[in-house]
Amino acid sequence: MCGIVGYIGNRNAVPVLLQGLEKLEYRGYDSAGVAVFDEREKKICVCKKKGRVENLESALYDNPVKGRLGIGHTRWATHGVPSDINAHPHFSGSENVAVVHNGIIENYMEIKEILQSKGFEFISDTDTECVAQLVEYYYDQSGDFNDAVFKALEKVDGSYALGIICKDFPDRIIAAKKNGPLIVGLGQGENFIASDMPAILKYTRNTYILEDNEVAVITKDDVKIYNPDKEEVKKNVYVVDWSIEAAEKSGYDHFMLKEIFEQPKVVSDNLNRRFKPDGSGIQLDDIKLFREDLEKINKAYIVACGTAYYAGLVGKFLIEKLCRIPVNSDVASEFRYKDPLIDENTLVIVISQSGETADTLEAMRLAKRRGSRVLAVVNVVGSTIAREADDVIYTLAGPEIAVASTKAFSAQVVAMFLLSLHIALETDKMSLEEFDEIRREMLKLPSHINKILTQAPNIKRFMEKYIDSKNVFYIGRGLDYVVCREGSLKLKEIAYLHSEPYAAGELKHGPIALIEESTLVIGVATQQELFAKTMSNIKEVKARGAKVLMIAMQGNTETEKYADDYIYIPKTHPILTPLLANIPQQLFAYYMAVGLGNDVDKPRNLAKSVTVE
Ligand code: F6R
Repeated sequence: MCGIVGYIGNRNAVPVLLQGLEKLEYRGYDSAGVAVFDEREKKICVCKKKGRVENLESALYDNPVKGRLGIGHTRWATHGVPSDINAHPHFSGSENVAVVHNGIIENYMEIKEILQSKGFEFISDTDTECVAQLVEYYYDQSGDFNDAVFKALEKVDGSYALGIICKDFPDRIIAAKKNGPLIVGLGQGENFIASDMPAILKYTRNTYILEDNEVAVITKDDVKIYNPDKEEVKKNVYVVDWSIEAAEKSGYDHFMLKEIFEQPKVVSDNLNRRFKPDGSGIQLDDIKLFREDLEKINKAYIVACGTAYYAGLVGKFLIEKLCRIPVNSDVASEFRYKDPLIDENTLVIVISQSGETADTLEAMRLAKRRGSRVLAVVNVVGSTIAREADDVIYTLAGPEIAVASTKAFSAQVVAMFLLSLHIALETDKMSLEEFDEIRREMLKLPSHINKILTQAPNIKRFMEKYIDSKNVFYIGRGLDYVVCREGSLKLKEIAYLHSEPYAAGELKHGPIALIEESTLVIGVATQQELFAKTMSNIKEVKARGAKVLMIAMQGNTETEKYADDYIYIPKTHPILTPLLANIPQQLFAYYMAVGLGNDVDKPRNLAKSVTVE
């Protein structure tokens, strides 16, 4: 969603802010802007434009600004359409205060009305403008910028990550956070703020991660962090261990393609870290989920959004099958509002790449309030979900930049394999011999994925053949149906194609009416025991004129009789197939999106990290 970057130091802030905003583009946005303190004019200059960061760059080229203090923002519209006026930063009425904001101020109408009654005039439709005006309102009373920000924060409800500057205090940026990520980057004679690490990775790896309700006062040589009672808080420096290359495209046309091709490494990193070297089980590092903990648990609940939810559905299947523990599952936006049946005997597993998804975070907090134990499967180290959960399994996928999740999904699925095996071993539902059989198969997964990736040119050819499809159906049974759901989501989000995933056996109960001459059906049939059943559904759609692209397990040559095109995945243990069967789907969605001329890494209307409800 929105992105924030801020700079104070001795460099010209403008290029630092623009490069930072470019690094945040992946999060999804519709306008961009900067506010920079001009030392000669002694005023804050704001430049903001609807559309891409390039638009902002050309506006700055036409009207250059320069200064050593600035804040920048990429906006993803919530209140008010994407436009130059609604773009951030927002000024207060006298242009004394400028603000960038991620999140939603829920009581902004109330604040706006009060300030309007005192003569303040508003020019945008945004909730953010009320923060700038409110800070100015308090500043006018006391002349104390820090105090004005504290007072304003007492009045606002909702979620925010804020960067605030004031014309009369060009020595500082004030940052504040509640339910939205914000970090302070620590340099030598310069400091930064950012909503996400890539924005400042070029300059520093040393950061403070702000907690909810903390306020940071940042000068070029110093950072002071306060709690809401204005008491100073001492924080540990968190050193980011990503390489810069990890956040670059490294020769690939798109981040998404690069991330698809990183999957063998992501999977092997996870396996090397999690399998005990002597083969006797799984090491989940900090997770304290042993026999005595598991004895208290009588059910699990898996909660997540989007792709992470589908990884969770693989986990549900495995925990039920291997551990014989009942597992409920829900998307976080539903779970939050349904009064879920959970208590202190429930293990709630939340899954999130970003660790900041608002619905998942709130679902987790609800679970904690009900006394449930919360285990989070998270990619971004130090993110809010990771910090607040009782236990964390990090998915070790490195930074995922493309909006469409690929390698993070694979890493989440591997985490589900590992977690279910760990629970099965701890509760004696699985013998070491059975574990060893699966472990050996898992160790082959990176090389299996590599084999599938060599089929990329074939999959590109399928794209050329099916590029005119208007509706695509994904059908499969059991774990294959979960894979279909993820494949269909990927096609929707980046190829903008209407597609539906169906449990293959459900087709006859209605959706088959939609199958007509040349409708594309992608069949996933990797589960040996369900293969014949799924193939009978494939025959039904073929009989109605569908074109069929099959994903099946090597050796099931029956596939070739009925499919127009097919991709085989290497033979593996049946519980491991979702990881492999999904890879051709990722490549298919990718090539379709490229073929249709879409912006693959930044699909329309989508944001990488959904930090609002
Ligand atoms: C799809 C996609 C989204 C995310 C979802 C959850 O490709 O990326 O569906 O999976 O928004 O995000 P996280 O995992 O960050 O909680």
